[in-house]
Amino acid sequence: MKRKVVFIPACLIAFIWAGASTKSGLQAFPPQTARQTTPHDAGADVSAQRALLDKYCVTCHSQRLKTGGLALDTADLTNIPAQSEIWEKVIRKLRAEMMPPVGAARPDKAELDGLATLLETSLDKWAATRPNPGRATLHRLNRAEYGNAIRDLFALDAVDITQYLPPDPEAYGFDNIADSLGTSPALMERYLSVAWKVTRMATADTKIPLATETFRARMDLTQRDHIEGLPLGTRGGMIVQHNFPVDAEYEIRPKLWANTVEQIGGLEHPDTLEITFDGERIKLADFGGHEDEVLAAGVSAAARAEIEGRFITRIPVKAGPHAIGVAFLKKSSAPPVEVLRPFLRDRIDPVSTHGIAQLDKIVVEGPFNALPSPDSPSRRRLLICKPKRCHAPTRFCPLWLAGPIGGRRRMRK
Ligand code: HEC
Repeated sequence: MKRKVVFIPACLIAFIWAGASTKSGLQAFPPQTARQTTPHDAGADVSAQRALLDKYCVTCHSQRLKTGGLALDTADLTNIPAQSEIWEKVIRKLRAEMMPPVGAARPDKAELDGLATLLETSLDKWAATRPNPGRATLHRLNRAEYGNAIRDLFALDAVDITQYLPPDPEAYGFDNIADSLGTSPALMERYLSVAWKVTRMATADTKIPLATETFRARMDLTQRDHIEGLPLGTRGGMIVQHNFPVDAEYEIRPKLWANTVEQIGGLEHPDTLEITFDGERIKLADFGGHEDEVLAAGVSAAARAEIEGRFITRIPVKAGPHAIGVAFLKKSSAPPVEVLRPFLRDRIDPVSTHGIAQLDKIVVEGPFNALPSPDSPSRRRLLICKPKRCHAPTRFCPLWLAGPIGGRRRMRK
């Protein structure tokens, strides 16, 4: 059991780095800068340049003196690329006319340029035969890519990755550029915890603890009108896709919008709340009207518990993605008779309880009484064979190869 659980997050983490470099070693390739290169017969020149070095440079840059940490008497002009690091420095000093230093004997500029050109041509030729595009930065999957990978690998269609991971930094309008996709310890922890959650969902582990998932209705959406995806004849509410981890009972708890002192808003008139599951109505609950309004005006927390208690629905659910809808039956499209024209977004006022009842959030709690034999789209995707018994790794027990996923545990359907 332990082995199985630990292994998969490790895999997930590994594939965060899927785009990482294959060539990680930084060899001493010279940087490919564009240089003006003149046609040059390198071979004939070498001895002349050697003499120039010996005369004007080795006086200071010898093995013995090592001025500036540099020895040019041992540096080999017949194999320039072998010591490209030294020669790149020399080119820089020569082109900037910084060496020999002021006051020291100095040849013509043309002579020094000749030396620089020899070095450049030789290094450039060598570099051209070994194109070095540089080092690829470690590339982690960004949030969208990670979400897609989870969806495709684990058949976890309903997992909304934006709920688990923060948005990625952008560069040049893109959020998938390795350089800008940094990894902080906090983000790494986030990825790790998501990996735990996701793998738990994917393997439909029946021993998962009770958890609640909260879906909030959008504050800026009016609940006076029909919301797409919800049954016709309803108004407001919301529809959410939720991935139920295992076959078990779950509790759906719609919560109404309440003001800052917990008084439910819009209880003036009787209302009916409808809960649907995958499009099927599973609950109709009445609330609102004079009695509820009086109740809510009193001890509001108790009133909330009493009114919202009528909405709580517990149903058995098969593991996998399902749609939960909560809406209000629409009674009339006639504009409400009120003195002031009501706000379309009633919740803009955090105190007033006037207006219509609105959904604030849906809380899904579970699993309760999980069934012992799990099955889900993810499990079917992951566990490709279900041998009756698997005592040893064989060709017919490929899960042994995958080891920890299929592992030693007997797979039962
Ligand atoms: C009078 C002594 C003297 C002579 C002659 C001299 N250098 Fe230097 N060189 C120095 C000193 C001192 C430094 C360290 C300070 C600096 O980097 O400017 C240095 C630094 C350098 C460096 C940088 C080394 C590094 O690791 O950053 C290069 C390259 C160099 N010299 C090349 C040359 C070449 C090529 C010549 C001949 C054309 C030459 N030098 C002649 C004194 C000299």
